[in-house]
Amino acid sequence: MAIHFKKLYYKNFLSTGNAGTTIYLDKTPTTLIQGTSGSGKSTIIDALCFGLFGKAFRNINKPQLVNSINQKHCEVHVEFSTNGRNYTVIRGIKPAKFDILCDDKLVTQDAAVKDYQNVLEQQILMMSFKTFTQIVILGSTAYTPFMQLTPAARREVIEDILDIGIFSTMNLLLKQKTQETKEQQILIDSNIKAQKEKADGVKRLIDVLSTKRDEELEELNREYANVQKEIDTIESQIEELKNANNALKTKTINQSVLKEEYELCTKHSIELVHENKKANTQLSLINDHSECPSCKQEISDAYKKTMEKSISKTIKELQKQLASNVELRTKKKQEIDDLQILVDQILTNTNKCVALGSNLDILQKRLLEILDSIESRTSNHHDVDELKKELKVIANDAFSMVKMKKDLAEQRQIEENASLLLRDSGIKSAIIKEYLPIINKLINKYLAELELFIEFHLNENFDEEIKSRHRDTFTYGNFSEGEKLRIDLSLLFAWRHIAKLKNSSSCNLLILDEILVGRLDQTNTDIVINMINQLAHEGTNIFAIAHHDSLQDKFRGLIQFKKEGDFSVVL
Ligand SMILES: Nc1ncnc2c1ncn2[C@@H]1O[C@H](COP(=O)(O)OP(=O)(O)OP(=O)(O)O)[C@@H](O)[C@H]1O
Ligand SMILES: [Mg+2]
Repeated sequence: MAIHFKKLYYKNFLSTGNAGTTIYLDKTPTTLIQGTSGSGKSTIIDALCFGLFGKAFRNINKPQLVNSINQKHCEVHVEFSTNGRNYTVIRGIKPAKFDILCDDKLVTQDAAVKDYQNVLEQQILMMSFKTFTQIVILGSTAYTPFMQLTPAARREVIEDILDIGIFSTMNLLLKQKTQETKEQQILIDSNIKAQKEKADGVKRLIDVLSTKRDEELEELNREYANVQKEIDTIESQIEELKNANNALKTKTINQSVLKEEYELCTKHSIELVHENKKANTQLSLINDHSECPSCKQEISDAYKKTMEKSISKTIKELQKQLASNVELRTKKKQEIDDLQILVDQILTNTNKCVALGSNLDILQKRLLEILDSIESRTSNHHDVDELKKELKVIANDAFSMVKMKKDLAEQRQIEENASLLLRDSGIKSAIIKEYLPIINKLINKYLAELELFIEFHLNENFDEEIKSRHRDTFTYGNFSEGEKLRIDLSLLFAWRHIAKLKNSSSCNLLILDEILVGRLDQTNTDIVINMINQLAHEGTNIFAIAHHDSLQDKFRGLIQFKKEGDFSVVL
């Protein structure tokens, strides 16, 4: 995108006053800018740089650019066209101003000044301050020759000229993107770690709860078995007692009969005792009486004897019966007592059964409770189920995180591949490699034209290798001022040539400040002027700044500066 500079206007800028200065930049092919020292010649370069890049060419800060007498309304306008459009950049100090007009319409300025400047440099001018000063200006003061730039600055200029700066911008953006990707990777790694720890925690909790439940179930089952065993024991005890009682009951079934028999025995005994007593009374009556106490009739001895014998026999009989009765009664009593022991045993057994029965009730109730507990623990997994659900959610999250991690790793791989292409050794290096021979060839061609017969070679790192005819290795510093100037000129011409070839960073303007007289001898001055004329012939507008008028006839146009009062003016 070639730039065609048309007009420069400035006021209250350095020594220029409120009246302002207008310089037409494309009216004459070659112009000599002349004037005494301090008359305001180099100011043109500063005005141009300030207008386009917001900073002067000479090393002073912004406030120092404002005319020290008027101290305000410092303003610079630069008019140019590129890409079929006309632009005017207006920049001011006190008040601050920065406007870009495109075909008389303001280019929207919605971002910060820095970004607006980026728009101007990267989208309209397509070159940086550094490149502009390397291809438009060659000066004696404040000018850093290409050979004195750092390798990085050299690279920046060449990238602008070869129009491959875009790869640096892309690389910068890629680096930011890679940084973001790296940060995302760190984040995702820590998220995955956190998710894993969370899952481990939930798993542990599930294990604890499951183990607890298993232990409880085991305990309950153990208790169930023990209680059931106790119940079985009690039931068999009750059964045994009942069987025992049944057996005892059959044994005691005759108790009432026995009691009746005993009663009868007792009654019989009483009767026998009574009869015995009566017989004894009769016997003593017979023995003690000789007559009958009632009828008073005499009782004969024979009768007595007969009676005595009969009664005694009766008594004997009665006593025998009584003895047998007592024996029977004692036997019955013993039998009754023996049965009573059994009856008591039945009662004891019954009581035991009742006690065991109530124990049995308690145990059966407990058994039901245990069954309930077992049932609720077996069927109710609510807590563990909830945790398992939670675990599933965590696992799903972790799954998508792992997928993201994989995607990020793939993205990193792509970024790394892109970075290989975009880094200095990538595409740019390939393009530079392609152009380096052309650049070197051009530099050597211009050096030869300027009658400096050295072999100049820029390598891929933009380090120079200079071979002189008689000495092998030479550095830029070895050369004389005039020789250095011729190297600078050769490089400048080479850059302009390449820029024109690439249709990048090329422009119609070339300003040479104080280089034609002093550092070059007459022959070289004539050669340079020839080269200038050649460039002018090809469409470049050249401005040469010089103190004195000895060169006047070599240029088509003339701008003369002068100090009027304290202000610089064009005559
Ligand atoms: N802020 C300022 N206000 C007023 N004048 C200033 C200011 N800053 C610098 N000057 C003066 O502006 C004048 C113009 O400087 P300029 O560099 O353009 O001169 P020049 O014609 O290139 O001279 P030379 O031939 O010596 O290089 C100088 O005299 C300088 O002292
Ligand atoms: Mg000057």
